[in-house]
Parts: sequence; structure tokens; C-alpha cells
Amino acid sequence: MLVPDLPLRTERLVLRAFTATDLAVVRDYRGRPEVTRFLYQEPYDDETVRPAIDRMVRRTALRAPGDVLQLAVTLPDSGVVVGDVLLNWTSGEHRQGEIGYAAHPDHTGRGYVTEAARELLRLGFDGLGLHRIVGRLDARNTASARVLERLGMRREAHLRENEFVKGEWTDEWVYALLAREWRAAA
Ligand SMILES: CC(C)(COP(=O)(O)OP(=O)(O)OC[C@H]1O[C@@H](n2cnc3c(N)ncnc32)[C@H](O)[C@@H]1OP(=O)(O)O)[C@@H](O)C(=O)NCCC(=O)NCCS
Repeated sequence: MLVPDLPLRTERLVLRAFTATDLAVVRDYRGRPEVTRFLYQEPYDDETVRPAIDRMVRRTALRAPGDVLQLAVTLPDSGVVVGDVLLNWTSGEHRQGEIGYAAHPDHTGRGYVTEAARELLRLGFDGLGLHRIVGRLDARNTASARVLERLGMRREAHLRENEFVKGEWTDEWVYALLAREWRAAA
């Protein structure tokens, strides 16, 4: 079980729980087709953002396998939300997790997501005791692949047309990192 002491601070960022007042900013960046192009979800609209933000607000701890921790990535001085990162506790028995993230397009290209996701790897390995954390992505999502590679994750699989997403067959890449590899790199 992991109940992080929020907010978390990294070198340049504050990672905090989402609140209902983040609805507009989440609607803004996760409402853009270019942000959700390689995600399973459609861009949020005024209707779909409501249950989404309700879910995000509750994702503050990993109490049981299946839980998701999802945090707003913010700038310390302004409080501006630059994106979000998440850690999904996918298996208790096998001590597995999965990371995910999305950035506001106004704040990409600065390494914020990599920095925030690194903190989630730390929580997953050191806080929750996970053995392995994966990142799964559409194989065309090269910006996301670069994030995972900067985190030191290894591309372990290229699945050919394993899913039918948004009207087309898509390839999937699976990246992974083991706890001992994380510790050796630290
Ligand atoms: C995937 C996504 C989060 C990547 O965003 P990003 O801004 O490239 O990622 P980061 O915040 O880690 O920034 C890294 C970039 O900043 C640059 N950068 C600048 N300063 C940096 C610093 N101090 N540290 C690290 N990188 C820095 C890096 O060189 C890198 O650019 P490059 O990949 O062109 O070399 C973004 O494209 C996105 O939100 N996509 C839509 C949602 C999505 O697909 N999510 C992933 C689902 S699997």
C-alpha cells in the first residue's frame, strides 16, 4: 500500500492531488485531439471531462491492486498545471505497475513530464515495492517513447496490430524497467 505525503516536490515541480477546480485546465489539454491522438480516450468535452475529473480527484493513493495514483504536475511559483502523471498498480501478486502521462502542449519540450514520471518510478519502486514498471504506447508515439527511454526503460516488445483503436489497427510498444535496474542506475 502507498499513501504518498502530498504534495511531492521535485527539482522544478510540485506534484499534487487534482481538485475539482482543475476541470477547466484538464478540459483544455486533454480536450485537444493532438494530445489524445495516441491514447485510448477521445478528447474530453464539457460532458466527459466531469466524470474524468471526479475520478482524477480520487486517485491519491494505491491501497490495493487496481488502484491508480494520478497527480497534477504544477510549477511551484505560478501553480500552473503543465500536465499529469499516473501510476497504475496493475498486479499485487507479481508486484507490477504501469506509468502514464500527458502534457499541456504549452509546456512540452522542457523535460517536465520526464521529471515527474521519474518521481512516480521512485514511489513505485521504493514506496510500493514494485518489482517491474511498464509503459505501453502506440508505436507511432515517438515523443512518449523518448520519455520512457530518458527514464532508462527498455523497449521489450513491439506488438503488431494488436489493437483496433479509433478506427484503425495499431502497433504497441511495451517498455519496462526492473527495480534492480532502477537502483543500479540511481
Ligand atoms: C508524451 C509527452 C508527454 C511528451 O512530452 P515532452 O514535453 O516531449 O516530454 P518532457 O516534458 O519529458 O520533455 C522532454 C523534451 O524536452 C526537452 N528538454 C528540454 N529541457 C529538458 C530538461 N531539463 N530535461 C529533460 N528534457 C528536456 C527534451 O530534449 C525533450 O525533447 P525531445 O524529446 O524532442 O528530445 C507529450 O508529447 C504528450 O502529452 N503527448 C500526448 C499524450 C500522450 O501521448 N501520452 C503518452 C501516452 S503513452
